Amino acid sequence: MKDIQFSYAKAVSTEAVQAYKTQVANAQEQLVNGTGLGNDFLGWMNLPSDIRPQLEDIQATANLLRKECEVIVCIGIGGSYLGAKAVIDALTSSFAWLEGEKPAIVYAGQNIGEDYLYELQTLLKNKKFGIISISKSGTTTEPALAFRLLKTQLEEQQGKEAAKQLIVCITDAKKGALRTLATQEGYKTYVIEDNIGGRFSVLSPVGLLPIACAGLDILALIDGAERMMQVCGIDTPFEENPAAQYAAARNSLYAEEGKKIELLVNYHPKLHNISEWWKQLYGESEGKDGKGIFPASVDFTTDLHSMGQYIQDGERHLFETVISVEQAQHTVPFPHDKANLDGLNFLAGKRVDEVNKMAELGTMIAHIDGGVPNMKITIPTLNEYYIGQLLYFFERACGISGYILGVNPFNQPGVEAYKKNMFALLDKPGYEAESAAIKARL
Ligand code: PA5
Repeated sequence: MKDIQFSYAKAVSTEAVQAYKTQVANAQEQLVNGTGLGNDFLGWMNLPSDIRPQLEDIQATANLLRKECEVIVCIGIGGSYLGAKAVIDALTSSFAWLEGEKPAIVYAGQNIGEDYLYELQTLLKNKKFGIISISKSGTTTEPALAFRLLKTQLEEQQGKEAAKQLIVCITDAKKGALRTLATQEGYKTYVIEDNIGGRFSVLSPVGLLPIACAGLDILALIDGAERMMQVCGIDTPFEENPAAQYAAARNSLYAEEGKKIELLVNYHPKLHNISEWWKQLYGESEGKDGKGIFPASVDFTTDLHSMGQYIQDGERHLFETVISVEQAQHTVPFPHDKANLDGLNFLAGKRVDEVNKMAELGTMIAHIDGGVPNMKITIPTLNEYYIGQLLYFFERACGISGYILGVNPFNQPGVEAYKKNMFALLDKPGYEAESAAIKARL
């Protein structure tokens, strides 16, 4: 069976990548031996093996929710929802909702939009819905606010006892308000282990329960991730290790070529949220101490008609990493038309994917000519096994890359700044001094 492949051939020289060999080896050693910064957050490294004993229970809970619910609301923010959304959107129909696919999976707690929550509450009226409430800390404001609102609605619609059977919480084993609440109410719970950070938690119950609720094969996802765990491991030589090569190539472009922005590119709109997940993974892991590649993303060919001009001709601080899907899942042949009024008969008999592939190739060549280095991740097709490979590949490369950069890839101190101000502005008890200080600035 094929694996996903990484190639930097059109972006950076072999010598430039080879120059990072020792740094990559050191980074791999720090990850494997737990001797680097943030070494108490390395639980994700072996998660594809470690999670296996829990898969049956996760699947059983998903089966129950699938049987009982028309809609399942996944509550969480950042690493507590992006992974599940990324996988579900990549592997289910783009029109699942309109096709009446049950249960529909929707999200809350990833924003504080009052209109969003009003519309969600309206949608859920008179519907049998379930809630998966996810927060590692159990204290994050956005999901806590959404959970209170939706739990209240569920209890009003179903009664408190019936509602209990439709709520699952995923949180810390002991700490946090969500753990206290789940214990007191008697909800089914799963634990996010202390040594797994939010953005590295997609292969834990955080990602797996919602993914299983969407009817996807979590075993195949884990099989793929476990395969990449071997392929990207410390024993694979540098030259054959895709995570090592990707980490080295992107650091070379950043440090040696001054390419400060990486665009993750896809040609399948279903991958849009894989990019959102990737942006959080790399942005929160590397963007600190005044350093870090800025992770951005585009969906092509859509964004060639909006961002294409800048990418081709604007400031030359960009490089692109293209996720190239070898085989589309479905076949749509393009028909011949006798009148040919649209002039498209030159495409007759070709598959739509062939047109897409030529757009991909043509764009890569144009962007390289325009001074935007292009690297490529080739994924054989979009299924659970290969998405599992892709997730682990990105995680491992992120750990290596962060250590090459010299930062702690597993903390996120910068995320606290807005929270402190928000609590002070909202007069949260305990923030009196900050409250006075910030209000004086208004
Ligand atoms: O990667 C991270 O740690 C963060 O993005 C968290 O996932 C996010 O802030 C949500 O935190 P929590 O799960 O504690 O509610």
